[in-house]
Amino acid sequence: MSSKRIFPKEFVWGTATASYQIEGAHNEDGRTPSIWDVFSHTPGKVYEGHTGDIACDHYHRYKEDVKLLAELGIKSYRFSVSWTRIFPERGKLNSQGIEFYRNLIQELRRYHIEPVVTIYHWDLPQYLQEQGGWTVRSTVDAYVEYATALFQELGDLVPNWITHNEPWCASFLSYGIGEHAPGHQDWYEATAAAHHLLLSHGQAVEVYRTLGLPGKIGITLNLTPADPFSDAAQDVAAARRLDGFSNRWFLDPIFRGVYPQDMMELFESYLGHELNFVQADDLRIISVSNDFLGINFYTRHVAKWANDSLLQVDLIASGLPVTEMGWEIAPDALYKLLSRIKQEYTGLPLYITENGAAFADSLDQGQIDDQQRIDYLREHFIAAHRFIVEGGNLQGYYVWSFLDNFEWAFGYSKRFGIVYVDYPTQERVPKASAKWYQRVASENQIV
Ligand code: FCB
Repeated sequence: MSSKRIFPKEFVWGTATASYQIEGAHNEDGRTPSIWDVFSHTPGKVYEGHTGDIACDHYHRYKEDVKLLAELGIKSYRFSVSWTRIFPERGKLNSQGIEFYRNLIQELRRYHIEPVVTIYHWDLPQYLQEQGGWTVRSTVDAYVEYATALFQELGDLVPNWITHNEPWCASFLSYGIGEHAPGHQDWYEATAAAHHLLLSHGQAVEVYRTLGLPGKIGITLNLTPADPFSDAAQDVAAARRLDGFSNRWFLDPIFRGVYPQDMMELFESYLGHELNFVQADDLRIISVSNDFLGINFYTRHVAKWANDSLLQVDLIASGLPVTEMGWEIAPDALYKLLSRIKQEYTGLPLYITENGAAFADSLDQGQIDDQQRIDYLREHFIAAHRFIVEGGNLQGYYVWSFLDNFEWAFGYSKRFGIVYVDYPTQERVPKASAKWYQRVASENQIV
C-alpha cells in the first residue's frame, strides 16, 4: 500500500487557458487583429488553415465555462487578456474589452475561484507588429501602457498577475525559429524581442508596485531541461548550450541581472556584431523583484553535438514514451528542474503555471477515457510533491488546459484539455481526467 501524498493546506489546484486559444469572437466589440489572427490566416502557417476566429467560443460562453470550472472543483483559473480587445488602436482604451474581463473575473469570484491574469500570452496587436513588434523598443512602451490600464481598471479584482507567458516562445520561437507568429527567422530579431519582452516585464512590475495594489505579480517561463546524449565532452557542451538557449537566457537576467556570458558570445559571434539593443539600466529593471515565479513544464531534451550553425545541437529522441506532441514524458526532470531553480536561482514561491499533455482522445458513448493523461498528470504531481516534501516552496499547479483549444501551429489537431470540446456543437464534455482531477483537488492529495 502506498503512503498518502498530501499537499500543503493552502495548495492551489488550477487550470489554465489563453485568450487566442479559446475566446473566438475575433472581430466583435471592437477587437482588432493580433499577430495570431494574421498568421493563422496566412496559408501554410497553421495545420489545415485552422484559425482562432471561433475557437471554443468562450467569449460568448464564459458563464457556462466558469460554472463548469466550479462544478469540477477548480480552485483557481489562469487566463490571458486579448490586448486588442483593450486597445484596438494604440492609446484608445476600449470599455467593451474591459467589461468582458471584468464580467469574467466577477463570475469567477462568485464561485470563489481565484483569478490569475496573464497580461500577454502572444497575441500582440498587428498594428504594433507593423512598427516592428517586439524587435523594437517602442513596443515596450505600448506594453507598459496596456499593463497599466489593466492594473487601473481591474487591479482591485485581481489577486495575481503574470506579466508574460513564455518569453522564449514569444521571441525565439516566433522571431528566430519562425514557427509562431509573426513567423520570422532572424536571430538578431529574436534576441532583441527576448530583451524587450523581459524589459517590459521589469517596467510593468515597477508600475504595479507604484500603484500600491494588494495583489501579487510575477512572470511565467517555459523551462526545458537539457541532458547530454552521452558523457562525451562535445555532448555535455551541447547540452550546456541548449540549456543556455532554453533556460539561462531568461533565468539569468531575471534573477541575476546578467545575460549568460557563454550565450552572449555565441549569439554575437553567430551574428557578427554586438547585441546593441541592451541599454544601460535595462538589466537592473529586468531583475526587479517578483512575488513568484511561474514555470511551464512539458518535457526535457536530450542534446547531442551536431555541426549546424547556431547552437550546434541535435535533439535526440530518447526512446522513452512520448505524448501526442512527440514530447518525452519526463516527470523526474520536473523534480530536478524545481530543485535546480531553488538551489541556483530563487527562494521565491513557485507555481507550475502549465503542465499537461495532448493525447488522441475520442468520444465514446459520451465518455472520454483518457487514462494516459491521468497517468501523465499523476506522475508529474508525484514529482512536484517530492519537491515540496523536501522543503521546496511550490504553492500551486495549473493543468494545461481546462478546455481543448487552438494549439497554435497545430490548430485543433492536438487536444490538451481535461474537458473535451466538440467543436461543431461547442459541447463541453469533462474527460475522465477532469473527474480524477476533481478528486485530487477536493482531497488535496494524489489519488
Ligand atoms: C505552451 C503554451 C500554451 C499551450 C501549451 C501546450 O507553450 O503556453 O499556450 O499551447 O504550450
